[in-house]
Amino acid sequence: MKTIRTKSALKAYLQPLRDKNKTIGLVPTMGALHPGHLSLLRNAKSRCDIVVCSIFVNPTQFNDASDLEKYPRPIEQDTALLESISCDVLFLPDVEEMYGENEHWHIDLGSLETMWEGAFRPGHFQGVTQVVYKLFQIVQPHYAFFGQKDFQQCMVVRRLVDIMQVPVRLVICPIERSREGLALSSRNVRLSDHGLRDALDLSKALRLVRHGAKEQGLSKSKLAANALLDENPNIQVEYFAICKPDTLLEVKECEGEQLVALIAAYIEGVRLIDNMLIDCQ
Ligand code: PAF
Repeated sequence: MKTIRTKSALKAYLQPLRDKNKTIGLVPTMGALHPGHLSLLRNAKSRCDIVVCSIFVNPTQFNDASDLEKYPRPIEQDTALLESISCDVLFLPDVEEMYGENEHWHIDLGSLETMWEGAFRPGHFQGVTQVVYKLFQIVQPHYAFFGQKDFQQCMVVRRLVDIMQVPVRLVICPIERSREGLALSSRNVRLSDHGLRDALDLSKALRLVRHGAKEQGLSKSKLAANALLDENPNIQVEYFAICKPDTLLEVKECEGEQLVALIAAYIEGVRLIDNMLIDCQ
């Protein structure tokens, strides 16, 4: 695997490959790789000739300085993992390489900007689209791979691609979970064993809604899921909502075929998110 730290070196490396009609796949990450990322990378390997994984903890998407500071950066472990699955290129720029001084970025994300994640993390999606657009321009991938775990992020990136007319195919990969059901996340390493057990209640609540939706109806199963979360004093829920997957507007009862339940909560000061698709028919 080649580790490349500058935009110019990466462009120079990829251009001859592109000229030879090689298919290029991009897996953008902030590092602290776990099996969720590895499944994105495997998916990328299966579709593309050349897989570029970027690791960049992007400061513009953090609205909380201590979250940015505490974000795990186990680069040696990440490099070894990428080598082990035969990733072709690790793009590892530093902040100065990615950002000039006083850069301005704003894109119209409509209501995606202010709902759910957007409401609790103001400016977050502007930061995400800013860096993802930069990565798209540098790598010019044929395919880019994102995890469904960041459901709203996937929709935001789709919108970025539409607005900026980026010629890339987005591939959204399913959430990877631990055996007990916890959605894998780089932030999980900050939880104690106790916190990890508490965190299981998030996916339990989502499953209650998913299983109950057809039999008891959505509002009853949501009440049961809320009760489960309320019973655990170690969980501070920011939002827990059942929404239309295309608009993220909240619904009270099943309408249409598929909905998505979204949750964000703090456990031991760590912010976790998860979601599950719900079939109503
Ligand atoms: O999902 C992430 O890890 C980040 O938001 C991304 C897409 C790599 C942009 O920094």
